[in-house]
Amino acid sequence: MTAADAPATAPPPGAASDWTIPQRHAGYTPAEHAVWDRLYARQLAQLPGRVVAPFLQSLDALGFNEPGIPDFERLSERLLRLTGWRVVAVPGLVPNEVFFGHLANRRFVAGRFIRSPAQLDYLQEPDVFHDVFGHVPLLAHPAYADYMQAYGLGGLRSMRFDSLNMLSRLYWYTIEFGLMREAGALRLFGAGIVSSHAESVYALDDPRPPRIAFDLRRVLRTGYRIDAFQAGYFVIDSFEDLLRQTVETDFAPLYAELGRLPAIEPGAVLPGDTLI
Ligand code: PHE
Ligand code: FE
Repeated sequence: MTAADAPATAPPPGAASDWTIPQRHAGYTPAEHAVWDRLYARQLAQLPGRVVAPFLQSLDALGFNEPGIPDFERLSERLLRLTGWRVVAVPGLVPNEVFFGHLANRRFVAGRFIRSPAQLDYLQEPDVFHDVFGHVPLLAHPAYADYMQAYGLGGLRSMRFDSLNMLSRLYWYTIEFGLMREAGALRLFGAGIVSSHAESVYALDDPRPPRIAFDLRRVLRTGYRIDAFQAGYFVIDSFEDLLRQTVETDFAPLYAELGRLPAIEPGAVLPGDTLI
C-alpha cells in the first residue's frame, strides 16, 4: 500500500481504468502450474490443526482441490454464489484509492504471476499463490467477506484523514497476520501466514512472539515488520466480533487521537495487554 503516497498515477498500458488486467489463464506454462501444485500440497499437509476451520472448509467449494493455478473467472463464479465476491487480476501494487474501491465493491485484487521454483520460500512481492491461496478461501465466510468490504469502505472514507499508516496496521494484523482463538485453541487466519510454509509454524509454535488479545486502539498504534517473521501477533475471538468492533467504531476521532501518540514497537508487550 505504498503507491498511494505518489500523486494519482494512470494505470499502466494494457490495464483498464480500474487497473485490472486479464489473468490470461491459458498462458500459464506447465512449470508454473507445477509451482502452484507444490506450494498447495505443502501447505495442505501442514495447515490442518493450525488454520481456522472455515479456511479448510471452503477449499473444495471454491475448486481449490483441482490442480494448477486457479482460473479467476471460474473461482469468481463460485465465490459470487457464496458471498458475492469476485477475484480480479492487477499488474502489481495499485494506488490505495483503487485498492479500497475494489474491496468496497467486493472485488479482491490479485497478482497473476507466480514465483519461480527457486523462490518457493521467499518473495518480495505478493504473487498469485499468496494472493489467491492466502486471501481467497476466507472470502467464502460471510463475516470475513463483510469485514473485507467494510475495510475497503473505511479506507475510502479515511482518504480525508492522514491515517493510512493506522489503517494499514489493522489490515496487517488481521487480514495478513491475524490469529484467532477458535474453540479454545490458537489458530491462523492471516493470508501472510497461511501462505508461508515457515511462518505457519513459527506463528503458533515459536515461544518468542507475544500473542496479544485483539484491541482495536492497540493495533492501530502498533508498527510492523515487512522483511521478517512478525515480532508479535494479535488474536481475535471470531470474524463476527472483528466485524462488529470495526464497523461499530467511528475511526475518525481515533485517527485524530491516536495519530498524536507515538507508535508502539512491534513485539512490545504493554501493561494493559492480555497475553493468550
Ligand atoms: N468503522 C470504520 C470507520 O469509521 C470503517 C472500518 C470498518 C474500517 C472496518 C476498517 C474495518 O471508518
Ligand atoms: Fe496479502
